[in-house]
Amino acid sequence: MRTIAVCTQKGGVGKTTTVANLAAAWGSRGQRVLAVDFDPQFALTRRFGIDPSDRLTIADVLESQLIRDRTAIPIGKAIVRDVAPGVDVIPAHRRLSDIEITLVQAVKRETFLRRALRGETGNHDIVLIDCPPNLGLLTVNALSAADEALVRPSANAAPRATSSPSPRGCSGSATKLSATNAACGWPARPRRIAGACSGVPSGP
Ligand SMILES: Nc1ncnc2c1ncn2[C@@H]1O[C@H](COP(=O)(O)OP(=O)(O)OP(=O)(O)O)[C@@H](O)[C@H]1O
Ligand SMILES: [Mg+2]
Repeated sequence: MRTIAVCTQKGGVGKTTTVANLAAAWGSRGQRVLAVDFDPQFALTRRFGIDPSDRLTIADVLESQLIRDRTAIPIGKAIVRDVAPGVDVIPAHRRLSDIEITLVQAVKRETFLRRALRGETGNHDIVLIDCPPNLGLLTVNALSAADEALVRPSANAAPRATSSPSPRGCSGSATKLSATNAACGWPARPRRIAGACSGVPSGP
């Protein structure tokens, strides 16, 4: 399973669009894709026509991990299956922003999403995580869960090919990610950082 977090500190640069399009493209090519909406704005959830108000979301899964006496909800129960060919989605809810505040007090607070996703190992070829437009604890959880980060530069950054360790327009985010990893003493995750200025990164 390949896990990719799509992130940038800046809002409105196309993170959600990138996740939705990559999921649809890879799903239609026969990959089993899980798209995780990890943004309290739940734009990806809406993009796939899902109403998060009447179903389990990633917020419920994380909340169940946070409350000591409650049995953790397996992440599989929050999956909405086959929203597009080959594509499953875990919806988000605006309560995710409250969960982020609660996470601050938690032990191993950066590992909640990574631990939740362990239950899905083997069921999908690719997991795409749509991050909020900041480097807060939700994004840190996404990066901790990911093998790769796809950093959308802002629209005014010059286009450049993908796969550079510090693509133009992404260097600020890349530096912050490395610094965050180092400050927290984590193993170097994600292993690869790519910029996505134009086109689609190489397929799996
Ligand atoms: N390659 C593109 N060319 C033109 N418009 C785009 C492109 N990608 C995304 N957009 C448009 O830009 C707007 C913002 O896109 P999107 O919601 O994907 O950004 P985002 O980074 O996820 O935003 P947020 O930070 O609020 O989550 C949308 O209206 C979307 O249709
Ligand atoms: Mg978005």
